[in-house]
Amino acid sequence: MSALIATDLYMGYTSGKLRSEILRGLSLSVEAGRLTLIAGPSGCGKSTLLSILSGLQRPDAGSVIALGEDLFRGNRHARDRFRLQHTGFVFQGFNLFSALTALEQVMLPLGYMGVDDRSAEARGREALEEVGLNARMHLLPAELSGGEKQRVAIARALVKRPQLLFADEPTSALDAANGQIVIDTLHSIAHEHATTVLCVSHDPRLVSHADRVLEMEDGVILNDRHAAHAVAAQPQERAP
Ligand SMILES: Nc1ncnc2c1ncn2[C@@H]1O[C@H](COP(=O)(O)OP(=O)(O)O)[C@@H](O)[C@H]1O
Ligand SMILES: [Mg+2]
Repeated sequence: MSALIATDLYMGYTSGKLRSEILRGLSLSVEAGRLTLIAGPSGCGKSTLLSILSGLQRPDAGSVIALGEDLFRGNRHARDRFRLQHTGFVFQGFNLFSALTALEQVMLPLGYMGVDDRSAEARGREALEEVGLNARMHLLPAELSGGEKQRVAIARALVKRPQLLFADEPTSALDAANGQIVIDTLHSIAHEHATTVLCVSHDPRLVSHADRVLEMEDGVILNDRHAAHAVAAQPQERAP
């Protein structure tokens, strides 16, 4: 089943007299329960695409069907509600509040959703355990490493139990070891919770861990391939 279907997306920006077209009729569909990666050079429009697919920004033309809902047919309010209920977002720069502990950061979105404090705390602890931070949940961002901060951000996205998880270059600010932990975490979220994880990145380590890699160039998807490990697994399954 496709969790996300984008058809003929167009998006451009005008600065002064200069108009640049970033998305030029881009279409894609993303299957549920997989880690899908969109790779492409810096400036090719990956963040723009992710913000459209997650309903943050309206495209100039084209449609996005997310979990069966036509995102840009409804109004802004309907989109905000959809994002709150069904999506999580992980940013390159973590976007944590400096005065809140890891647990408080993770509980925050549940507060917006009207979940009471006790259940929010229980779910917050569970999400932090899942990313391996149970021993560090009362620390502030300044007391955490870059990799730990990104795992807090993942737990904050995860705590809502979203069906769609978006990540924009989640490993680019991290060293190799921490980047690997973040990749493994995203991969296991997709497989264990049947969450649709859509990640944009040019990190080659992510490319090798994704179930599927879409390559973006000149405003469209140029290449669509299933990762080597997924492809290699098929003939073995069929072997007697
Ligand atoms: N709000 C904006 N206004 C004007 N130009 C923008 C805006 N957002 C992005 N751009 C331009 O669009 C292009 C694609 O940006 P972006 O989607 O951030 O690419 P990527 O994430 O692949 O690096 C860049 O040239 C960028 O400068
Ligand atoms: Mg970007």
